[in-house]
Amino acid sequence: MTKDFVLGWGVPLLYLLSAICFILGLKLLTKVRSARKGNAYATLGMLIAIVATLIKVGTVDYRWILGGLAAGTVLGLVSAMRVPMTSMPELVAVFNGLGGAASLLVALSTTWLRVIEQPTAPGPQPLMATLGGAGAVMVPLSILVGGVTLTGSVVAFLKLLGKFGYERPILLPARHLINFLLVGGALSAAAIFALVPLETPQVRELALVLTGVALLLGWLLVLPIGGADMPVVVSLLNSYSGVAAAAAGFVIDNTLLIIAGAMVGSAGLILTKIMCVAMNRSLLNVLVGGFGQGASSGPAEASEYVNVKSAGPEEAAMVLENATSVIIVPGYGLAVAQAQHAAKELSDLLIARGCEVRFAIHPVAGRMPGHMNVLLAEADVPYERLVEMDVINSDFRNTDVVIVLGANDVVNPAAATDPASPIFGMPILDAHQAQTVFVVKRSLGAGYAGVKNVLFERDNTVMLFGDAKAVLQGLATEVKAL
Ligand code: TAP
Repeated sequence: MTKDFVLGWGVPLLYLLSAICFILGLKLLTKVRSARKGNAYATLGMLIAIVATLIKVGTVDYRWILGGLAAGTVLGLVSAMRVPMTSMPELVAVFNGLGGAASLLVALSTTWLRVIEQPTAPGPQPLMATLGGAGAVMVPLSILVGGVTLTGSVVAFLKLLGKFGYERPILLPARHLINFLLVGGALSAAAIFALVPLETPQVRELALVLTGVALLLGWLLVLPIGGADMPVVVSLLNSYSGVAAAAAGFVIDNTLLIIAGAMVGSAGLILTKIMCVAMNRSLLNVLVGGFGQGASSGPAEASEYVNVKSAGPEEAAMVLENATSVIIVPGYGLAVAQAQHAAKELSDLLIARGCEVRFAIHPVAGRMPGHMNVLLAEADVPYERLVEMDVINSDFRNTDVVIVLGANDVVNPAAATDPASPIFGMPILDAHQAQTVFVVKRSLGAGYAGVKNVLFERDNTVMLFGDAKAVLQGLATEVKAL
């Protein structure tokens, strides 16, 4: 096989194969049942991509490659094994930040190698003349989007951690004006970079200014957004990291990076839209920020509620004794309490008694897309017991008992009935229509949206106060004793 054949046919074919693996992987990842297979396809695609790229580049220092591979493998393995499910958004934020940083560094190193340190440069030239039209547009774009993604993800990570005072929106005075000026400045710098003939020191300074503005902009854009809105922002930053990667693909003339970047960019954007629709929020509303300010899962606002009934596991088990149909509605509290195994145990016990048990999945229950599916899959709850909101909603009215497990906003009837509510218009699970509703949570405290939940006051609702795992374990003990 000649070198020309390998580079002309072999590498493009491997890239095509890799792209097909990515597309199949993404497709399979859309269903819980096939998600593991999807992950395997995507991993295989990445392996093929790395091998093909090493063949294409030819002479590489394998010590760097092996060092990077070893460091990446150790970091990936340790984080995959140790990061708890509740911290997945943080992990994704870190991955996005690294993606943005990689694209930023690719664009900067290309500028350094091909323009700034080019000894044979024929005097001041616009970037357009040195890198061609695509390069001249994509280098500044890669710096800009990569830089914004990097620092935006760092702020998102800090907010998700809830540390250093970052958990709340930080609203700087005149922030919209500052951001507008920075965006305008960055775009002007990018245009000068691409079109105006510059001396080498000027190119270097402009590249550094553009990098600085991008990093500052990423920080400022995410600062005013409420900590609880971070999953939406993380998804958007994921999309940005894809755009930055695609731009970097143009910079280094790598077709596969363009394809993979475009896929990440569009998938992230689609997910962002789905999340906004499911929360009845516009993206602009999220980006302008401030929403999370009043939100908390904090102390109970018991004074806002009247006629709240509560019971213990023993009384609840007596109701469950006669139930033939039960729907469990998991929410964020299930993840906090790590109660998925206890939920599976209770559902198995009820099924063994001849009761039909299903789990109702709201698209934004928890704090990340698919949060409940992942948790329940971890406890080996069979997929067929998980039913999406649109399918199960009409069944609530014929259901004996609903157990709301650490969920709050996703079952709040105010979303359908109170136009003044901040969550008005958000589709909810119609749990209130069941004959009896048990709500398992620690207090009457609010959920993510920080609003009163009228479900807690309804005649057919009984609160089971306590940590979700402890309450479920108590219920299981009582059901076993029936
Ligand atoms: P939330 O409305 O956030 O309510 C969770 C409830 O869990 C809290 O009220 C809390 O009450 C309870 N809880 C916390 N720890 C608990 C524990 N150890 N044991 C028992 N209960 C516990 O959750 P949800 O109903 O799942 O709704 C999700 C919210 O997040 C929606 O408003 C959605 O718009 C928003 N959101 C979701 C996403 C995605 S993609 N899922 C993204 C962004 C925003 P206590 O403190 O009284 O226990």
